[in-house]
Amino acid sequence: MNNNNFEIIVKTLAGLEPVLEQELVRIGAKKIKQLTRAVSCEGDNKILYRINYESRTAIRVLKPIVELRANNQEQLYDEIKNIPWENFLDCSKTFAINSVVYSEIFTHSGYVTLKVKDAIVDRFREKTGNRPSIDTKFADVRINIFIQKDVCKVSLDSSGTPLYKRGYKNKLGLAPLNEVLAAGMILLSEWDQKTDFVDFMCGSGTLVVEAGMIALNIPPQIKRDDFAFKNWNDYDANLWENIKEKARQQIRHEDDLECRIFASDISLSAITITRGHIKNAFSERIITTQKTDFRKLKLPETPKHIIINPPYGERLQKTDTDLFYEKIGNELKQKYSGSEAWILGGNLQSVKKIGLRPSKKKTLYNGAIECKFLKYEMYSGSKKKKYQ
Ligand SMILES: C[S@@+](CC[C@H](N)C(=O)[O-])C[C@H]1O[C@@H](n2cnc3c(N)ncnc32)[C@H](O)[C@@H]1O
Repeated sequence: MNNNNFEIIVKTLAGLEPVLEQELVRIGAKKIKQLTRAVSCEGDNKILYRINYESRTAIRVLKPIVELRANNQEQLYDEIKNIPWENFLDCSKTFAINSVVYSEIFTHSGYVTLKVKDAIVDRFREKTGNRPSIDTKFADVRINIFIQKDVCKVSLDSSGTPLYKRGYKNKLGLAPLNEVLAAGMILLSEWDQKTDFVDFMCGSGTLVVEAGMIALNIPPQIKRDDFAFKNWNDYDANLWENIKEKARQQIRHEDDLECRIFASDISLSAITITRGHIKNAFSERIITTQKTDFRKLKLPETPKHIIINPPYGERLQKTDTDLFYEKIGNELKQKYSGSEAWILGGNLQSVKKIGLRPSKKKTLYNGAIECKFLKYEMYSGSKKKKYQ
């Protein structure tokens, strides 16, 4: 390991590990390894800051500081108290602890959080007579505890507010996608940024805004400046400014875009929200919006890269949901030959009613709902004949 390099754990959503790995390669991280809902790597502060600023699929970026073993609560307390916390925290700063526990010894994450807090506070009290305060919402320093069996990994959370909060969303539509999931779907779909991009059930516009940011190479966190690492003792303000400056220089001009982006929805309020989010993220010129039923949508006759996230139909009868997916299938076959479509479907039985055979299938989670992310290719002309 290079002297300034350290281990970094980047958390993401299930199914997005491969695209996060590609992002980390591009950013220049070393020793990259996919884990479950995370990717580990090595890098220095520059890499840590760049992941926070530039990764579209990272949820939070952790810097492990200690790995210890504990077989009971007392041992955990003692080991945590032995960590030189004054290197990371002082009494003028607030802190918060988040614990994730997979262990038969430690069964309650809330209790682990309490024990860790006691150990840190007691260390400060004994050494200085004073203690840093807890602030669960706006803590300066965030500590992450991950316990598996008897192994406890203590990390500093460099992100603070999770990275799916990009700062362009101020209104929630009906069942909006998480920004990290939307960006991950676009990256998984291998959109070439030359083919026109379409979401004809755009809701609050997450997919089209993320597509626009990808096409314009806008850093996902361009609107945000609160990152937990800025409260760390080793924070390097010059390095941070340089990273932001360099990334901003790479932003493409609107006139250099090689594709168009179309967003539509049957609901007027969804379109109003989408327009607001587009305006917050970049310029309204980038995306054409339209309030319309997807069956009435008329677009230029060029091949399209379609990504949609239809309603899950919890409130609909199964037959209605089946019929809805059948209509999506018919529409794709009739109007979009030569295009490809990716559908995030939460209703696995109804998705089959699309009546097209998916050429790729991935499992993703929209919150707690298991979804299939399916690719359909609507061949035209000779290719169609060949595949039929
Ligand atoms: C699950 S939401 C999409 C959420 C969106 N991806 C986001 O991030 O906000 C499904 C959307 O499909 C729209 N919708 C339902 N039926 C439609 C139809 N026939 N034509 C167009 N849009 C429709 C709804 O209005 C809703 O906004």
